[in-house]
Formats: sequence, C-alpha cells, structure tokens
Amino acid sequence: MNFLVLPSALISGSVTVPGDKSISHRALMLGSVAVGKTSISGFLAGEDCLATMRALRQMGVNIEQTGETILHVDGVGLQGLQGPQDSLNLGNSGTAMRLFAGLLSGQSFGTTLIGDQSLSSRPMQRVIEPLSAMGAKIGSVDGKPPLKLGGGAPLTAISYKLPVASAQVKSAILLAGLYASGETFITEPATTRDHTERMLRSMGVNLVSDNGRIRMPGQQGLVAKDIEVPGDLSSAAFLIVAALIGPDCDLLIQNVGVNPTRSGIIQILRQMGASIELENTRMFGDEPVADLRIRSSRLNGIEVDPALVSLAIDEFPVLFIAAAAARGVTRFSGIEELRVKESDRIDAMAQGLRTLGITVDETRDEAEVHGGHLSAGTIESQGDHRIAMSFAIAATIAQGAIHIKDVAAVDTSFPGFTACIGGLGVNITQTSAATP
Ligand code: S3P
Repeated sequence: MNFLVLPSALISGSVTVPGDKSISHRALMLGSVAVGKTSISGFLAGEDCLATMRALRQMGVNIEQTGETILHVDGVGLQGLQGPQDSLNLGNSGTAMRLFAGLLSGQSFGTTLIGDQSLSSRPMQRVIEPLSAMGAKIGSVDGKPPLKLGGGAPLTAISYKLPVASAQVKSAILLAGLYASGETFITEPATTRDHTERMLRSMGVNLVSDNGRIRMPGQQGLVAKDIEVPGDLSSAAFLIVAALIGPDCDLLIQNVGVNPTRSGIIQILRQMGASIELENTRMFGDEPVADLRIRSSRLNGIEVDPALVSLAIDEFPVLFIAAAAARGVTRFSGIEELRVKESDRIDAMAQGLRTLGITVDETRDEAEVHGGHLSAGTIESQGDHRIAMSFAIAATIAQGAIHIKDVAAVDTSFPGFTACIGGLGVNITQTSAATP
C-alpha cells in the first residue's frame, strides 16, 4: 500500500489521537501478571499492541475486548502464565520483544520470540546481556531474533549500568527483576520514558527511582488496577508539526500524554519558535495528560540539545520535517540510536528529504538539515511507520504531489492516520497500485 499526498493545509479544529503505544503494551503485560482484573480504556488497537495481546492469550491469559479500545484482562499472577504451543510472533514490535524477553526469562517454561523482517534485524544483545547475567538462558542468531528463552532457570537480581539509554532494556530488566531473588539496581545514562516504573508502583510494587537510579526488591506481586491510556504524543507529533508548518492553523489535540520523560519534542519545537500550549493539564492515573493547542508558527533552525534525544527518541523523523520547513540549519547530534529503529531512520529521512530537494549532511550520529522548499517526489518509507507518516506531513507544504511507498506499517502505531489527517483537510489517498 502507498500514500499519495497533494499539497494541502491542515484546517483548524479539535482532534484526538489513538492511545499510547508504550503504555498499552505495559498495561497488557502487567495486567496479565497481576492478581485481579485490569480494565484498560483508550488501548491502542494497533498491530504492535495486538501482537502483545495475541502472545499473552497464547500463554493462557483471558483478555476480553468489549470495545475497540476497551479491554479486560484477567490477571493470572506472576506464576500463572502457561507455556505456549507455538512461537510468539511479535510482528514489527521491538518493545514487545524486549519486554517479553524480560517477562518470560523467569518462567518455568521456554518460549521462542519471533518477528517480521525489520524486527529480525534489530539488536537484542542489549537485553540478552543483562538477562543472562541474571541467570536467564537465551539463544539468538548473533544477538538478533529469534530469541529462544530456555525458562526454568532461577533468576538473581543484578546491579546494572545501562550502556545505552533505553526504556525497553530498563523495562526488560525490571520485569525479570520481579521474578528474581534480591534487589535490582539500574542506573541510566540518560532519562528514558518511565511508564514501567509508574505502572509497577501503581500496582503496588515497591520501586524507588531517583535521578536515573532505580531500586526494586524482587519477588513482589502486582495488584490489578484499571488503566486509562492517554493519547500517544508520538502520534500527536505528526499533527503538531503539520499544524505548525501550515498557514493559519489553530489545532487542539485533546488528552495527550505529556509525561516529562517523553515530551522532549515539545521543548525542541518551542526552541525552534513553535507555539504549543498545554491546557487542562491533569492526571490519567499516574500519567500526566494535557490538551495541546498548536498554532502555525515560523520555525527557525537550531542546535538540538543532545540531552533531549532520549526524551524525544521516536519523534526525530517528524522533527527532520520541521527542520526542513524551518529557516536556516538544524543540527541534530547524539542520534545514533535512530539507526537501529524500525529502519535506519537517519538514512531513511536523509534520503527522502534529498529526493525532495533538501540538503542533509550526516555522520554516524549526527545530521544537519538545511531548511528549504520541498519539491514533489517519490519516497521509500523503508516499511517504517514513522517515516511514512513524516513524509505525509511534509507533503502538505510541498510544491507538488508526494508518493510514499510501502506504508502498511502505519497501522502498527497510528491506525486511522489517513482518516485523521484527511478529516483535517489533508489531501491524502491510499493506493495499492504501483507508484510511477
Ligand atoms: C519504547 C522505548 C523506545 C522507543 C520505542 C518504545 C518503550 O525504544 O523508541 O518506540 O515503549 O519502551 P528504546 O528503549 O530502544 O529507546
């Protein structure tokens, strides 16, 4: 499937975006091993989280869906998961694979975790190493999936300094730590999203986190707690940038998660001159939420502070579009992690922007985007949802039609993307025919 997007401005209005992907995965996993029933509202029914749901069902968890975004999970307790008959297919989802590696390392049964072509090429050594140090038996293909978890090995807690800033690795260790004897200590090199810590605490787990250091005693049970999932800021990011770079737009995006470990994009865009206001800030359980008011703004190129990278890690593709639309040069540094996401996102964005006439200079961990006018062209999304959506937003201000190839993966994180931006005036169509 492809997108064809014609130049068209976003109109003013009010919208919501689908639920947060990170929180939806965690709500399913933690609800499944809690004691009691967890009702989840605002669940992201996208392919990634549906893969997590199917995997948990394969392990005997009863999950009832009573609405598109409403789930009821009958928690089976820490020891209640059952060995699945088949491999667990986690599709495109790195979060599902890394978090399951942690959750399933301490089970009495073995499991095999597999994924699609993109996931099969992503680095898993970063979870294999700490989990093996805890006593887990994990087989892989040179540190890549499939992951074969042996099971049946007692886990011992570790004290671990993360070599890369990664919420997925941190969460995998914490989930394994629930099954381990002793206290788990983790030190982060930079702040990463703390949804796991917040949710564990809200389910009664004694976990202390202070200035990048986390401490959690092992073998603690979880108590079910209903979860209201905020809208995903990473999905809202596409609408935010579209509203900013188009003319005369005043857009309200309601119920968006604004967890400070996650909202670096707001800081970066404001430094570029964006008008973004947080209204009606409140809590959904343990997660802060706000309505975001975005007004069209003149953006300027900046040096993006590398300290903000881990707080905006999924938003760089669309930030490259904001940079292309800005006056002057925007310099991103410390962004090497982007090379091991669903695609090599520095390469995918640089190639796509060059196709549209924008100058991008890159090194292994840096990129400089020279603001300018975007021409028409055909873009390879490399099967990456965030690359596809970023170029759909770029197309709104381009000088002609933009074709974006291989966009089916958009459903992994933002089901209804086409209808959402189409409803806001963007001239977007999905085509299955070969692009010119
Ligand atoms: C996620 C963490 C981030 C992010 C991913 C979701 C999570 O990955 O890119 O989309 O839910 O923990 P890393 O931990 O690899 O940075």
